[in-house]
Amino acid sequence: MKPLNVFDYRKLAKKRLPRGMFEYIDRGTEDEVLLGQIRHVLNSIKLNQYVLNDVSDPDVSATVFGEKITIPAIIAPTAVAGLVWHDGEVQVARAARNFGIPFCVATQSMTSMEQIAERAAGANLWFQLYVFEDRNLTRDLLRRAKDLGIRNLLLTADTARSPKKEWNTRNGFGIPIKPSLQGAMDVVMHPRWLTTVLLRYILTTGVPTYAHYPPEYRTKITRASIWDNVKLARRLTWEDAAEIRRLWEGNLVIKGVMAKSDAEKALKLGADGIVVSCHGGRNLDSAPVSINVLPEIKDTVGSRMTVLADSGIRRGSDIVKYMAAGADAVLLGRATLYGAAADGERGAADVLAILRDEIDHCMAFTGQNSFDRISRASIWREG
Ligand SMILES: Cc1cc2nc3c(=O)[nH]c(=O)nc-3n(C[C@H](O)[C@H](O)[C@H](O)COP(=O)(O)O)c2cc1C
Repeated sequence: MKPLNVFDYRKLAKKRLPRGMFEYIDRGTEDEVLLGQIRHVLNSIKLNQYVLNDVSDPDVSATVFGEKITIPAIIAPTAVAGLVWHDGEVQVARAARNFGIPFCVATQSMTSMEQIAERAAGANLWFQLYVFEDRNLTRDLLRRAKDLGIRNLLLTADTARSPKKEWNTRNGFGIPIKPSLQGAMDVVMHPRWLTTVLLRYILTTGVPTYAHYPPEYRTKITRASIWDNVKLARRLTWEDAAEIRRLWEGNLVIKGVMAKSDAEKALKLGADGIVVSCHGGRNLDSAPVSINVLPEIKDTVGSRMTVLADSGIRRGSDIVKYMAAGADAVLLGRATLYGAAADGERGAADVLAILRDEIDHCMAFTGQNSFDRISRASIWREG
């Protein structure tokens, strides 16, 4: 049956991927309280409905950092997207390019930024930075991104620890993947993934690795140990962010800002933007839902910097709600990953087309014909 929405793609992804891999993508941390709340909050936001406006051809595009994009969305950095489909990062980057939105390359991707730039030529690439313990390696990544002409850098600031993903531990799944009987059984039960993804890598480029790790530290993802130098920095402070600001000439966007005071600090250090993000419910289970803190953050810094936001977007109407709450654009994490896990580039492209269509419907039903007309006043309030 043809998938009609992101939830259908999620079901297909669940069938196709080994359980450990699917749950790595899909689930949250600890009690997964936040994961449930994100969807609950998005579902409970209601939009005002106005009638008899000309909504024959709504303009669903947006402009971010001076660039016009097809819908106000950027593909979020997602570590190991390359494992949901062979060459997953390139596939999703091509889908994003053809659709007309940026693709953010993750530090922990399976395919290097150079490879993605070459094989998805013409894609609008951003780069997401996780800071390594060895800051020289981080500087090296910045240089590589600059050499490729990447202009927008997302500095992920909300991952001070490796999060407690208990499902992954129970499934025996982690990154790097540790060989286990449970893991091997899981893979054998999903022969399509085994042959079209894992074996295809092994027979062509070898066991997949974190492509951005320098060769001398690079660890195959099946090996348990990672050199200390390429562990993510345990101590990452505003001074580090200021240092990155000095080094990076393009736009600097700090990802994971959830407090007004932090948004002000980001502005003060000269960041060009922030991502208001509760990391899709994957880090702090007790965090607030990002769309709930977005309005006050927008009011504090929104006229002076770009405010992006993410978490939980599965419908075009969710994007409209984020825009109404103050986002300049959103990041899409799992939505396009589900598409790619189900059908590679085609699946990711279809998810984007579905979201655009749903935005169009939502705009038409609410009586608005462009995002310029969407604001806090678009959100229905009782009384
Ligand atoms: C499988 C997976 C891997 C992720 N890896 C990263 C990462 O390496 N760096 C990062 O900043 N965010 C990462 N994220 C978080 C996303 O960038 C984004 O904030 C989040 O997925 C948004 O929520 P959503 O998936 O509900 O759309 C990851 C998310 C997923 C689902």
